[in-house]
This record gives sequence, structure tokens and C-alpha cells, in this order.
Amino acid sequence: MFTAAITGSGVFTPETSISNDELVAAFNSYADTFNADNADAISAGTLDAKPHSSTDFIVAASGIERRYVMDKSGVLDPSKMHPSLPERADDAPSLMAEMGVDACNKALAQAGVDAADIDAVLCAASNHERAYPAIAVEIQQLLGAGGFAFDMNVACSSATFGIQAATDMIRSGSIRRALVVNPEICSAHLEWRDRDCHFIFGDVATAVVIERAEDAKGDHFVIKSTRCATQFSNNIRNNNGFLRRTRNGHMEDRRDMQFMQNGRKVFKEVLPMVSKHIANHMADDGIQADDLNRLWLHQANKTMNDYIGKKVLGREPETGEQPNILQDYANTSSAGSIIAFSKYSDDLDHGDTGVICSFGAGYSVGSVILERVKS
Ligand code: COA
Repeated sequence: MFTAAITGSGVFTPETSISNDELVAAFNSYADTFNADNADAISAGTLDAKPHSSTDFIVAASGIERRYVMDKSGVLDPSKMHPSLPERADDAPSLMAEMGVDACNKALAQAGVDAADIDAVLCAASNHERAYPAIAVEIQQLLGAGGFAFDMNVACSSATFGIQAATDMIRSGSIRRALVVNPEICSAHLEWRDRDCHFIFGDVATAVVIERAEDAKGDHFVIKSTRCATQFSNNIRNNNGFLRRTRNGHMEDRRDMQFMQNGRKVFKEVLPMVSKHIANHMADDGIQADDLNRLWLHQANKTMNDYIGKKVLGREPETGEQPNILQDYANTSSAGSIIAFSKYSDDLDHGDTGVICSFGAGYSVGSVILERVKS
């Protein structure tokens, strides 16, 4: 058995972001037009009017202040309310691959690793822009990486499940180095015309290099252990897929073809599941709450993270102990906890302990216990 370590991480951040005010102005304009266009049905009581969204609600309910997106103009155009991401020719790099390669190159640079020395690329994300060939194989080729590559999807938990898969391969000796990459174009599977969720998601890509700890060239994080769990639920669901296309190949414009959730139920059911999962994982590894120096949580909702942090630590987390990035990035699905890890881990001291934890649709929850090693 070999010991695995995260030796590098990287984040690709899109160039454009949308503030809550911009988002709400576009939504309210769309709602006004919808209500005017359907005035007769609304006054006859056969159709519900669309109420306005509000920045105050969004900040209070989620903690989100803005989000990065791959295309701002389509999202903010009240007549579109969807990103304009034109399909690319088959011989051009796909959008997910392009975003993923940027994050991978940053992670490789931090690790001091050549792409050619990578044995496996796992593209772990909550949605893939095509079925096959795997995006991971395209990323492998664009990077000039060796070995093999495959896509995997466990929704918001994809990154931690990917880290567990890569770590197990490194431990067993079947590979020496892996890239786990999470390109998330959440803007394309979000229903921007739905007030209940239009503020939730953003786009980003993250990547980590995982290799044998003995190969690390600088400061790194030893992976002490990983743990994944799933439990079926329909409360976060997206029914899109190849069976859902119409005969002429067009996508149907059905609400269930985009992200759907029962947010309140998710709150109620996922919070205890996650708190218990982290606590049991730590206890089985002999880690007390007092031993924990950092929690890098999935970034869906500030209230959720405050609750989990308090449950796990048995007290209010101190500033910096449980960094949130969702105010700037919103929910970026599988990438959220890795953004937090990438941006808020350098300051940890030799011997410090941290936990990456992601959770979401499935339901699914994954945790990775890390120990900081400074050379
Ligand atoms: N602007 C203004 N008001 C809004 C609104 C908006 N954008 N969206 C909803 N509201 C209203 C609702 O209509 C509702 O009004 P009512 O009480 O008159 O019916 C009220 O605000 C509360 O809505 P609700 O949806 O119950 O809010 P919430 O407090 O549960 O917060 C979420 C909504 C989605 C932020 C929250 O449920 C959440 O984050 N859940 C977990 C999400 C999660 O982790 N999902 C995993 C995804 S991977």
C-alpha cells in the first residue's frame, strides 16, 4: 500500500460574473413581459402571475452575492434567460475540456508535475456536455497526459468521489499519479426563469493532482482517508438525457429537463446526513473536533455550512476555520469544496488536519481527511 497526497490544485474562473442586482433586474423584466403577455389567463385565474425576485431574499436565503458564468449576455437577456454556448465542431476542443485543461495546468504547475507523467485523468462533474467520447479522454489528449481517462458523475459529490477513486488506485499501486478535474457549466442546466432557484448556480472548473506522497516535490496534503456514501432521493433531480430528445433531435423545453430541487427537504434531510457522515469519519480515524484545523465544505448555502460547521466542531467555527467562497462563486456543484480548498489551504502548518466534504444529489456525501506536510 502506498500513501497518496494532493500535491497541487487549480481553479479556472470564467471572465464574467453576474451580481445579484443584475440577475434580479433581468428576471423581473422577464417576469413583467411574461405577465403582460399572459394578462388574460392570469386575470381569468388559469395561470399564475410570476412574482418578482429580490436581491435581499437571495442573500438572506443563500449567502450568494454573485456568480461567474461562461456567457453572461444570454443569461441576462430577458428574451433568452439561458447562456448562449454555441455547439463547437467535433475537431475543436469542447467547452468543458477547455475549462478543465486550464484548471489542470494550474494544478500541475503547483505540483511541479509534467502532464506526460499523469497516469489517469478522471473528469468528475455533475453534467457532461456529451455522452462520449469521454471529456476526460479529450482532456488527457489536450494535456498530453499518459495512461487512461474516464468521466464520472455523482452530482455535487463528484470531486470527492473522484478523489477517492484516484486515491484507491494510487494506494494499490495500479497508477502513480492522477488528475481529478471538475469542469462545471451549471449555467446550462439551471432554469434561469424559475425564481426559486435562478440565483443558485455558477460556472467554474477545478482540478487536483494526486500522487504518491513519496513523489511530492514540495508542501502537500497527505490523504489520510476517504469516505463516500449514497442514499437515493428524488429531491434534487434533472431528467435530461438521450431518451428525452424529440424525434427530430431537438431538446424538449420541459421544466424537469433542468435542475429541479425541493430545497426545504434537501435542507432537512441532507444536513443531518452530512454532519453525521463527517463526525463518524473523523471518529473512526481517531480525530477529535479539537484536532480539526479546517473544513472545506460543499458550497451550496451559507446557512447549511454554518450548521454543519457547528455540528462537527461542537461550537461556532472561528473566522477562517470553515471558509466559504459561495458569496463570489455561488453553488458550483462538485467544484465548490475544491475552490475553498485551493484558495484557503496554503496557510496551514505542518501536521494540521482538514476535511474536504461535498454533498448533494443522489443523495451523496463524500469526505476526504487531509494532513498538511511542509517540506
Ligand atoms: N426572491 C424572492 N422571494 C423568493 C425567491 C426569490 N428569488 N425565491 C423564493 N422566494 C419566496 C418563496 O416563494 C417563499 O415564499 P412563501 O413563503 O410566500 O411561499 C419564500 O421566499 C421562501 O422560499 P423557500 O424556497 O422556502 O426558501 P428557502 O428559505 O428554503 O431558501 C433555498 C431556498 C433554495 C436557498 C434553500 O432551500 C436551499 O439552499 N436549500 C438547499 C439547497 C441545496 O443544497 N441544494 C443542493 C443543490 S446541489
